[in-house]
Amino acid sequence: MNTLTDTISNGDKILEFSYLLAAIFFVIGLKLLSHPESARKGNLWAAAGMLLAMITTMFLHREGTPLVRIPSGNLAIILVAIVVGSVVGAVIARRVKMTAMPQLVSLFNASGGAASALVALIEFSNPDNQSALVTLLGLVIGAIAFSGSMIAFGKLNGNIKDIFAGWMSYVNLLFMAAVVAGVVFLMVTNAPVETQQVMVYALLGIALIYGVTFVMPIGGADMPVVISLLNSLTGIAAAMAGFIYQNQAMILGGIFVGAAGMILTLLMCKAMNRSLLNVIIGAFGGGGAASDREAGTVKEVSVTDAAVLLSYSSKVVIVPGYGLAVAQAQHVCNEMGKLLEANGVEVKYAIHPVAGRMPGHMNVLLAEADVPYDKLVEMDEINPDMPNTDVVVVIGANDVVNPASLDDPSSPIYGMPIIKAHEAKNIIVMKRGMGKGYAAIENFLFYNEKTRMLFGNAKDSLQKLVAEIKSL
Ligand code: TAP
Repeated sequence: MNTLTDTISNGDKILEFSYLLAAIFFVIGLKLLSHPESARKGNLWAAAGMLLAMITTMFLHREGTPLVRIPSGNLAIILVAIVVGSVVGAVIARRVKMTAMPQLVSLFNASGGAASALVALIEFSNPDNQSALVTLLGLVIGAIAFSGSMIAFGKLNGNIKDIFAGWMSYVNLLFMAAVVAGVVFLMVTNAPVETQQVMVYALLGIALIYGVTFVMPIGGADMPVVISLLNSLTGIAAAMAGFIYQNQAMILGGIFVGAAGMILTLLMCKAMNRSLLNVIIGAFGGGGAASDREAGTVKEVSVTDAAVLLSYSSKVVIVPGYGLAVAQAQHVCNEMGKLLEANGVEVKYAIHPVAGRMPGHMNVLLAEADVPYDKLVEMDEINPDMPNTDVVVVIGANDVVNPASLDDPSSPIYGMPIIKAHEAKNIIVMKRGMGKGYAAIENFLFYNEKTRMLFGNAKDSLQKLVAEIKSL
């Protein structure tokens, strides 16, 4: 008997110690993830922490006494699930295009939310489960994260259009109130177990619908906020699932994801000049009156003229956007920057916090092309310099340089901080045509007196420009 107790306590100690180690690995990972140069290592540290927690849980976790390890039959199922999941994950991660990363993140968020909701659904009827509130919170938060993320995936993938009407805010509030009421009811009711189980399924249904109605009206330039909020919700739901099982690694992992996602959400809100309350009620974005301003005329520039203008400037600012990522023109963009620098031109890259389709998209893209980090300047830092900039080159960016956010109160992006490209002395815009950006609105920068358009795929245009600059 003594031997069994010893085994139990030793196993427990090793398990707890492994969770502490995993938590330390997560923290190191998060720290390294905060810089593009070390992000890859950060991912490996966090993954190692997760692997450690998974292995020790599988072999040392026990329920009650005497020692009951995970039954060997279950272990086989778990291992098969891990192998299948790992293979599918590795294939998707290798194949996914950089521009489709946000969709993938949405799918990851959805699976995390669904897993937590399922854990809560199963454990609600477990008589040993003492944490009803945590279980119900895990259920509703996981369900909202799941259905909301699936809608976000559809929107980012272009399969679902924004549906916005003023009354939707009220519908959202109604569903939110129904979710809260359902949780409170289940906490206080003495109804028979069968009735409670029906109620739990109803609550799950309402939470799933709320996830849909909450994300549906949010559109255009506001999607980044909602994606990071859903990411945070997934982390919180996982933490709730961890509380149900009293599993420290799960609790900590969930809290880290939830906290990191919430910090990112608040930063995104700041970048978009929105309040978090507006996001939760789903009262912004998507809508907005179309501007009735006259567009004016668009002026084009030849590759030769653009090359001359750039080569004889002293200060050039490049504004990269989603189109640069689509064209995969980051390498040739860096080549042009280096050529100009060799000609004595000062070159900087202006980074908007929501340029592209995911947080840090432009940083990652330019890092891939070895653009030195000190050349990347944040929006707030570069804007005061814009009036002294000889040429701003907007490459595949649209919404993040749209001056409607400053001077058109009827615009859906009114109030969103932008890179003030319109204040530069000359503006060159590289894009394929007059296509709109993610927010699907007109951009009057293209009709500005100082703007010259260089139409074409960003990679082709940049290659021609590089050849021309070399020949000068
Ligand atoms: P967008 O406003 O999306 O504009 C991209 C522009 O690139 C388009 O107008 C398109 O015009 C052009 N383009 C596309 N392919 C091109 C190619 N191969 N060569 C040259 N040009 C090309 O990009 P942005 O300024 O980076 O703004 C990002 C938007 O996405 C914001 O509204 C933001 O809120 C939203 N968003 C951001 C995130 C995050 S977290 N970053 C997540 C979701 C949504 P043509 O068709 O005429 O070429």
